[in-house]
Amino acid sequence: MREDDAAHAHEVGVGPWEGQWPTDERYDPELLRDGDRRNVLDEFRYWRHDAIVAELDTRRHPFQVAIENWQHDLNIGTVVRTANAFNAAMVHIVGKRRWNRRGAMVTDKYQHVMHHPTVEDFVTWAHGEGLRVLGVDIFPDSVPLERYELPERCVLVFGQEGPGLSEEMRAASEATLSIAQYGSTRSINAASAAAVAMHAWIRRWEFGQRV
Ligand SMILES: C[S@@+](CC[C@H](N)C(=O)[O-])C[C@H]1O[C@@H](n2cnc3c(N)ncnc32)[C@H](O)[C@@H]1O
Repeated sequence: MREDDAAHAHEVGVGPWEGQWPTDERYDPELLRDGDRRNVLDEFRYWRHDAIVAELDTRRHPFQVAIENWQHDLNIGTVVRTANAFNAAMVHIVGKRRWNRRGAMVTDKYQHVMHHPTVEDFVTWAHGEGLRVLGVDIFPDSVPLERYELPERCVLVFGQEGPGLSEEMRAASEATLSIAQYGSTRSINAASAAAVAMHAWIRRWEFGQRV
């Protein structure tokens, strides 16, 4: 191992491009020159940021997610990161515009995020797009997610730590879905619930696994 390689052995990514530079305009000259230490897939190495987003846009899934943000919920960053991993069409923040981006680990730069100040604004937008609004929470009348046939075009909506889904969002949801639990706690955290629910959509629509 060369000395330079050893220095970067524990770093993510790749060093400067070796040999003749590619001419494709998706490549970023600065990254080719300095190396690409971003947390991106190998197929996107040295690509310009906007070229990566454009490529993701060609293959986004039709599901979307929303999270209520009335008290600056710390889960939002993680929800955005998971939505990016599953290439959701969009993440919606309902309530306060500001949210803590730390948990997103920069994935928010690659994910379309839309803000709606009220539940009514959000629901009007979703219905205008022909999207079915599905709440995810543990209400007594919630349907088990494990037995629910998720529609292809839907928005999965999550509540906040503490209060959970607002009454207004619950009323606006076509159904509410609960995730089966087996321990002593009432609920899991919102980001964990979002990951489970998004993956249920992936299993259904990417892998054809019906309930
Ligand atoms: C910590 S929970 C809120 C508290 C919960 N409403 C309660 O009664 O204990 C935060 C959010 O995580 C999601 N959540 C957590 N556990 C869940 C479960 N088992 N099924 C569905 N959603 C869940 C919901 O979106 C919920 O609004």
